[in-house]
Amino acid sequence: MDDLRDKYIDLIGAAGDEATLEDLRVQAVGKKGEISLKMRELGKMSPEERQIMGPKLNALKDEINAALAAKKAGLADAALNERLKAEWLDVTLPGRGRRSGTIHPVSQVWEECTAIFADMGFAVAEGPQIETDWYNFDALNIPGHHPARAEMDTFYMHRAEGDERAPNVLRTHTSPVQIRSMEAGGAPTRIICPGRVYRADYDQTHTPMFHQVEGLAIDKDISMANLKWVLEEFFSAYFGTAVKTRFRASHFPFTEPSAEVDIQCQWKDGSVKVGEGDDWLEVLGSGMVHPKVLRAGGIDPDVWQGFAFGMGIDRIAMLKYGIPDLRAFFDSDLRWLRNYGFASLDVPTIRGGLSR
Ligand code: DAH
Repeated sequence: MDDLRDKYIDLIGAAGDEATLEDLRVQAVGKKGEISLKMRELGKMSPEERQIMGPKLNALKDEINAALAAKKAGLADAALNERLKAEWLDVTLPGRGRRSGTIHPVSQVWEECTAIFADMGFAVAEGPQIETDWYNFDALNIPGHHPARAEMDTFYMHRAEGDERAPNVLRTHTSPVQIRSMEAGGAPTRIICPGRVYRADYDQTHTPMFHQVEGLAIDKDISMANLKWVLEEFFSAYFGTAVKTRFRASHFPFTEPSAEVDIQCQWKDGSVKVGEGDDWLEVLGSGMVHPKVLRAGGIDPDVWQGFAFGMGIDRIAMLKYGIPDLRAFFDSDLRWLRNYGFASLDVPTIRGGLSR
């Protein structure tokens, strides 16, 4: 028994890996292992012999098992130490920078508009981008024969063959939301509607999809004076400097009287500065809502009156942030987006002007 013990303790001590240890375990205490076979012989012994040999064999078995476990733990420790010596990491190296995306100038200006008008009590309204011709045209006092329909370069949707209804359109302006919000909320009301609009047009200042923000204020005593104040307040807040406006008599089917509005600016070294000088830049159309339009929205024009305006979001984004070409807004060029985009925590500032 002492020989058995010495033999296995030596072999276990010398084992260099787990596989060898496992072989030794099978040889010694496995089902057919040397020590297990010895234990089977206990049955053939006299009771006296068994009383001496039984505990001794059990103790031997325990000792071998304990030696196996200790060696196994020792091998694992040694392996870990080897790894720790071989693998290392310089935690003082600077991290690899991960570029974060930027906020598109249109999204930024959309938010700026919403915030400024919200301060003046305007809620945000929405409408569908695929409109019926009633909302996009008729309800806004643009009947079928009206030249404004042709001027708008409208995208028409398909109708199934045999369907005689007028085709739906991709809305050509945000003005249909005026009708929808009058229908939904009645008067008095004060809303803006920023959104996408569509016209078949493409050059440096036109893209088939662009953005407008519509404004509508209706009450019993609203006048052009309120319109002028609201717009001057808006532009001054938006451009961060006092901005004069100029109202030029114009014509829109949905307003009477109508005015196109210019903002004060100055061209200098090929770029424009808003809020100084004596040049003017057209930025929006506006007027007093036509009685027919109020009626189309379910509002009594003998009781209520109000103003409306429609402004190009992309246009005022170009002006404020000095972006010369509208088409680049929608090219999804990462270099452009990194240059003109905003970090999510950016505080907007004036970044020079539009180059001519
Ligand atoms: N809908 C016009 C356009 O897209 C802009 C406009 C002009 C909107 C006058 C208005 C308005 O609400 O009163 O060109």
